[in-house]
Amino acid sequence: MAVVDKNETAMLAVFGNPVEHSLSPIIHQHFAHQEGRKLSYEKILVAKSFESSALEFFSAGGLGCNITVPCKLDAYAFVSELTDRAQIAHAVNTIKLKYADDGTGFYVGDNTDGEGLFSDLVRLDCPLDGARILILGAGGATRGIVPTLLTKAKLKSLTIANRTVSKAQDILTTTTDFYRKKNISLDLHELKACSYEDLATAGGAFDVILNATSLSLNHELPAITDEVYSGARFVYDLFYTQDGSTVFTQKAKALGVAASYDGLGMLVGQAALSYKMWFGFTPDIAKTLEHMRSVLKQRAAAK
Ligand code: ATR
Repeated sequence: MAVVDKNETAMLAVFGNPVEHSLSPIIHQHFAHQEGRKLSYEKILVAKSFESSALEFFSAGGLGCNITVPCKLDAYAFVSELTDRAQIAHAVNTIKLKYADDGTGFYVGDNTDGEGLFSDLVRLDCPLDGARILILGAGGATRGIVPTLLTKAKLKSLTIANRTVSKAQDILTTTTDFYRKKNISLDLHELKACSYEDLATAGGAFDVILNATSLSLNHELPAITDEVYSGARFVYDLFYTQDGSTVFTQKAKALGVAASYDGLGMLVGQAALSYKMWFGFTPDIAKTLEHMRSVLKQRAAAK
């Protein structure tokens, strides 16, 4: 049976490739410290198949796991039950082993990325109410966050701009189709997919801009004109850095955007929701976030 007693060591892990860099063990140990729980949380490098690594882990007593790049789709295929948001995102970042009444174990897959972002935007007082929001990029990260933004934030409009426009359109179509089939109405005036070039004349058109491309990793900027930033009150990069600024947030700041943040809070936020799924305990995100900033600072100083 899954261990839920706080004094017995609960066995968790993060699966990915690469996985060495993952901050998840430190984040979850900090949550466990808050709750007063004993935890083992290892990093498992998936060299061959996610399924065989995961089965080995669970048969050894694993209670749940996180999944990072590039295994989120494999985890989606692996589980026997999916939450709505994992279903729409077509990606699973959290698995919990549950037991049916007859004692049979089954795996539930969730995707906490969108809620993690949303909780961070709320924490940062992002002006979401009635906002015209622009998301740059249409990869896995965007697929994960759009369902939450469409259902939880009271947006005026949502635009996804991407180098490959069809991917942005696909996210909007599959997400809205999903909700239509479930008879969930989305109270939103405008949804749009476009290219970066289409934004050239969109000066002042967006209140909030989220960078969900992988460009910051290489210190590169999305190909949008300076005018697109003008009028924005809040920008957020899903990528995180040691000091909380990325090329994208620096650019926005230089152009006069009042509030600009990196994605460390989203990372801690999505982890907190995983932890809640496993143990029912809601960690204090702000405390762990502060801890993680100092961990990153120490790491940078040690280099
Ligand atoms: P993730 O899971 O982090 O979202 P991903 O699924 O590989 O990663 O998506 C990366 C995003 O960054 C995509 O929107 C990608 O644009 P395409 O869909 O057109 O590939 C974007 N991206 C990556 N490199 C880029 C580049 N050099 N120029 C513009 N966009 C780029």
